[in-house]
Amino acid sequence: MKEIYLDNSATTPLYSEVIDLMNRVQEQVFGNPSAMHEKGIAAEKVIDTARRQVARVLAVSDQEIVFTSGGTEANNLAICGSARRNRKRGSHLITTVFEHPSVLNCFRYLEREGFTVSYLPVNQDGLIDLEMLQCEITSATTLVSIMHVNNEIGSVLPLAAIGPLIKIKNPRTLFHLDAVQSFTKLPVDPLGWQADLISCSSHKIHGPKGAGCLWIRKGTLMDPLFHGGGQELGMRSGTENTAAIAGFGLAAQLSENDQRDKTAKMMSLKTAFLREIEKQGITFVINGPNPDNAAPHILNLAFPGFKAELLLHSLEEKKIYVSAGSACHSRHPKPSHVLNAIGLQDDLPASSLRFSFSALNSLAEVTLAAHETADTIRHLKSLINQ
Ligand SMILES: Cc1ncc(COP(=O)(O)O)c(C=O)c1O
Repeated sequence: MKEIYLDNSATTPLYSEVIDLMNRVQEQVFGNPSAMHEKGIAAEKVIDTARRQVARVLAVSDQEIVFTSGGTEANNLAICGSARRNRKRGSHLITTVFEHPSVLNCFRYLEREGFTVSYLPVNQDGLIDLEMLQCEITSATTLVSIMHVNNEIGSVLPLAAIGPLIKIKNPRTLFHLDAVQSFTKLPVDPLGWQADLISCSSHKIHGPKGAGCLWIRKGTLMDPLFHGGGQELGMRSGTENTAAIAGFGLAAQLSENDQRDKTAKMMSLKTAFLREIEKQGITFVINGPNPDNAAPHILNLAFPGFKAELLLHSLEEKKIYVSAGSACHSRHPKPSHVLNAIGLQDDLPASSLRFSFSALNSLAEVTLAAHETADTIRHLKSLINQ
């Protein structure tokens, strides 16, 4: 049976053009980008091209893009770097309870350093109460960090409304958004949303692992995490991973081409999957927002009475790859903090699978995957009833 990969929120296959470019860069552009001779200048040029490609997608200045090793590092730099640097102004920070661990664990760490953190709850659709957010912001609040798209349930946070609301209450409060799941999939508008810091990752958009970036609005006061040679505007010391950065830049450009068509395709794949599984007449629950209002590529379903791990491995035997909770949890099964946060009861969190799509999937693949998922449920049910 042909493989069907529906775990695109965990990571994506690379575009072939990206692999070709990275191979060429690895072979031919091996100079240290900081070196003064032509080998260094060639590597620097490759990085500058990638910086322009990423900046173009975000419609920001390329001088504001800092390359990192991925979304996790971008989130750590944004949160720890800004909180520590602005501590004299205040030590209150705000985030939500259902962020990615690379955000939540930064805040937990900062609490140990003496910061006070407000964790905003989310409702069953994975949305926050904007009035509550506004009430929480005080003159001591230096940072609000909120994700654009939740990686487990696909809720889309209304950042266009959130940014201005933060700035009205306290113009000096920085606004960080984790755009790892939305970059090149949904429009991201740094300036319109009055954001100051935006995290993006390469391997979610058909680029290589080990690359990502933080957009830092010009003039934002930040401490670096790494101290060293002062690369990346002094914000990220260390010799740059030229090939990965080049691959990230090209992946951003390719993903952004016909972005609307690709987003529409992912949405139609998700809808087709859902329609097919509905037709099969098995019992399931949609976790989180109405799929029509959610991110185009993420669908989280609970199959009451069936352990997610068992379902995942049964599908794996058919070469269909999905995830239970998020990638970070699936190897160490524990209740998903996201599914708990949206109030899922009883055994539903432990019976939930995430199906995540990319524009490289086909309609035939997702229809077959829905059919096979239903078949797996029927088969397991027949074994239980024996
Ligand atoms: C919302 C979100 N933020 C951050 C990350 C971390 O990104 P990376 O894997 O590039 O470190 C992920 C990865 O799953 C994510 O989904």
